[in-house]
Amino acid sequence: MPKIIDFSKTYRLLNHGPTVLVTSAHGEHRNIMAAAWNMPLDFDPPKVAIVIDKNTYTRELMEASGTFAINVPCRVQAEMVVRVGNCSGRELLGKSPDNKLAAFDIPTFPASRISAPLVAGCVAWLECRIIPEPHIQNTYDLFLAEVIAAQADERVFSDGRWHFEGHDELRTIHHVAGGAFMSIGDAFKIGA
Ligand SMILES: Cc1cc2nc3c(=O)[nH]c(=O)nc-3n(C[C@H](O)[C@H](O)[C@H](O)COP(=O)(O)O)c2cc1C
Repeated sequence: MPKIIDFSKTYRLLNHGPTVLVTSAHGEHRNIMAAAWNMPLDFDPPKVAIVIDKNTYTRELMEASGTFAINVPCRVQAEMVVRVGNCSGRELLGKSPDNKLAAFDIPTFPASRISAPLVAGCVAWLECRIIPEPHIQNTYDLFLAEVIAAQADERVFSDGRWHFEGHDELRTIHHVAGGAFMSIGDAFKIGA
C-alpha cells in the first residue's frame, strides 16, 4: 500500500537509479512516458533532475501545467515501460482512446497535489513542481523540480530503506539500452 514518505527520505526513492515513468496532465489531456535519465538533487526540500526530450508530448503537458509525477515501476511492469517509451501520446490525439494510459489499459489513482495521475502497481511516486530554468531546459532538455509529495509501497520501502527480499516481482528496473534492463536489490551495508 502507498505510504507517505518524509521529505528528508524522499531522495532514497531515486538514489539507486531506477528507470521511471513520467505522468503528466493538463486540462483534459494526460500522458505517460518512460525516463531512464533521472536523479535526486537535494535532501529537504527534495528536488530531482530529469531529462525530457523536447519532442515528447510529456514535455508539452509538463510545461503547460508546471507539474509532473515520477512513478517508480517494478519488474512486472517492464513490458509496459518499454511500450509507453516507444510511442507518443501525441499520435493518439483525436482518436479513441485518446491517451496512452487508456490505450494500454494502465490503472491509475489520483495524486494528492498535482493533476497528473499516479500509476497503480508502481512502488514509489513523487509529485513534482517544475523549477523553471529555461536555459538548461532548452539547451540540455534537463528539468529541475521540487518534490511536493512522495509515497512508496511499504512492502518494499519502509523506515527510509528499500527491502526487496521476498518480492522479486516488485524490484525496480534499470534500463541499460535497447530494451535490456537490470533488476537490482542485493543490499549490503558498510560501517556501523
Ligand atoms: C527504457 C526507456 C527509457 C527512456 N528514457 C528517456 C529519458 O530519460 N528521457 C527522454 O526524454 N526520453 C526517454 N525515453 C523515450 C521516451 O519515453 C519516448 O520518447 C516516449 O515515446 C515519449 O512519449 P510522449 O511523446 O508520449 O511523451 C525512454 C524510453 C525508454 C523505452
